Amino acid sequence: MSEAVAFEAADKAGRYRELVPQVASLVDGEPDLVANLANATAAIAACVPAASWVGFYVRRGDELVLGPFQGKVACVRIALGRGVCGTAAAERRTVIVADVDAFPGHIACDSGSRSEIVVPILRGERVVAVLDLVAVEIEHGDDTDAAGLAALAAVLGTLAW
Ligand code: SME
Repeated sequence: MSEAVAFEAADKAGRYRELVPQVASLVDGEPDLVANLANATAAIAACVPAASWVGFYVRRGDELVLGPFQGKVACVRIALGRGVCGTAAAERRTVIVADVDAFPGHIACDSGSRSEIVVPILRGERVVAVLDLVAVEIEHGDDTDAAGLAALAAVLGTLAW
């Protein structure tokens, strides 16, 4: 199996369409959750060059705990309901923050962060993690990111959480 990922589409939606099957292939047959999440972060970062930070927070009881990521050192624990990540997990919905300064309770891990999108990962009805993508550009995340990352989250929900 080749571990390389490649993207040819010029548009964002097309790149996400290319991302999802490549991540599905990367995790296929590999039972280790950490390895799979780590490779997924690298693939997402390659797909979305505007991302300054991309990674997972894994649910541990009433908290989210930092998982594999690409980017700067980040906060380790986030309570459910707190910040963008905790809100997405508690409300089981994708949260798009066009301007992090305008989101009350935003947890600033990187002062360069300007916008953020967080997508819950569900295993059945249960939120098992969130996928967090941060950009240094304001208004980076949009419905195309939400749809693309949700399709990816559906694949990742099948992992051994
Ligand atoms: N901004 C997030 C915290 C995680 S970091 O940005 C990587 C939040 O408000 O939940």
